[in-house]
Order: sequence, then structure tokens, then C-alpha cells
Amino acid sequence: MTDDNIVWHNHQVSDDDRARQKGQKPALLWFTGLSGSGKSTIANAVEMRLFEMGCHSFLLDGDNVRHGLCKDLTFSDVDRVENVRRVGEVAKLMVDSGLFVLSAFISPFRAERALVGGLLDPGKFIEIYVDTPLAICEQRDPKKLYQKARQGLIANFTGIDSAYEAPLRPDVHLKTAEMSIEACVEAVLAHMKALGLTNQ
Ligand code: ADX
Repeated sequence: MTDDNIVWHNHQVSDDDRARQKGQKPALLWFTGLSGSGKSTIANAVEMRLFEMGCHSFLLDGDNVRHGLCKDLTFSDVDRVENVRRVGEVAKLMVDSGLFVLSAFISPFRAERALVGGLLDPGKFIEIYVDTPLAICEQRDPKKLYQKARQGLIANFTGIDSAYEAPLRPDVHLKTAEMSIEACVEAVLAHMKALGLTNQ
């Protein structure tokens, strides 16, 4: 709901000013994929490389954000939509502040990912599909959550009894069953370089 009595303020320091001061072209790197697909691991490794290049960045991670900003939300479809909406809005503010924002959320629905993309100027939303087959995620099961879901101890688990809509045309497609983590990181960095976001 928007309120007619709330008026948008334009600030004297613009988004472009903030980006220029940091010497970078900010963007949102949106990692999507199943639980255990490797989103956080790859996003972490990409952020480390950006940090080493002197870039300014921030990593938003589902497991962490759900302890704070989104701790009131469950894993129902409605709450996942709200989770992604909130994270998208926060990520947009952080991009406006001049940062490279990396986000690692399952974000299972195409419509909400498209909504987040629509918050940003063209070219600033980079959808990265961490494509790991369910069987592999389930085999890894680092948090033993798939095991619990199969035992019926967790309801609405993505890939088991809750949907995951794979991106149709991701900007970067990481087939982790065939690629090492290093190769995935290189693919993301190569895409950023091709877009002129980084020069290394
Ligand atoms: S999202 O669907 O709303 O984007 P998000 O990325 O924030 O999900 O959180 C996913 C993480 O929460 C998983 O990696 C897993 O550790 C944990 N989790 C707990 N319950 C579930 C569930 N029912 N489905 C998926 N992940 C769950």
C-alpha cells in the first residue's frame, strides 16, 4: 500500500555521485538455485575476488537475512515472495549506494526474480543460475535438511514439496555438476568484465 501523504525526497548526492566516488559501476549479482546448490559458496568466492580487486561490495545471504530482517517469515509460497521482495528492495538501496551487491537466496519463483530485476536500471541486474541437480544437492545435504524433509519433519521444502522455477534465460548459467567452484567464479567474473563492470 502506498500513502498519498508520503512524498519522495530527492537527495543532493546522487546515485551516480556515490558510484563515481567508489570508482565502480554498481550492480546486483542475484544467485538463484536449490538449497545446497552452492549459491553461498560461489557468491562468497566471487566477493572475495572483487574485494581483492579493490571493489566495494556486500553479500546478502538467505540463511543470515532470515535471522534478522526476515525472521518473521516462514517457507510458505506467500512468505517466500515477501522474503524476495524485501531482499530485492534492500539490495536496490545498496546498489544505489554504489556497491556490488551479491545475493544468495533460493528465490524459487520467476515472477519475483523478474520483479527484483525491474527495480534496477537495465544492465544492473545479473541473474546467475546455480544449476545443481536435486539429486546432487540431496546427496551433499550439508545441513541434513533434505533428510529431514524426506522424513516429513520439514514441510514445503524446495525441490521436495515446494516448487523451484529455473530461470529460462539466466545471464550466467553455472552447471556445477560439470564445473569446479573456481570455474564458476571465473564465469561470473568474465561476465562482469564483458559488461564493463570490472576491468580484471
Ligand atoms: S527463499 O525460498 O525464501 O528464497 P532462502 O534462500 O531465504 O529461501 O532460505 C533458504 C535456506 O533456508 C535454505 O538454504 C535452508 O538452509 C533453509 N530452509 C529451511 N527450511 C526450508 C524449506 N522449507 N525450504 C527451503 N529451504 C529451507
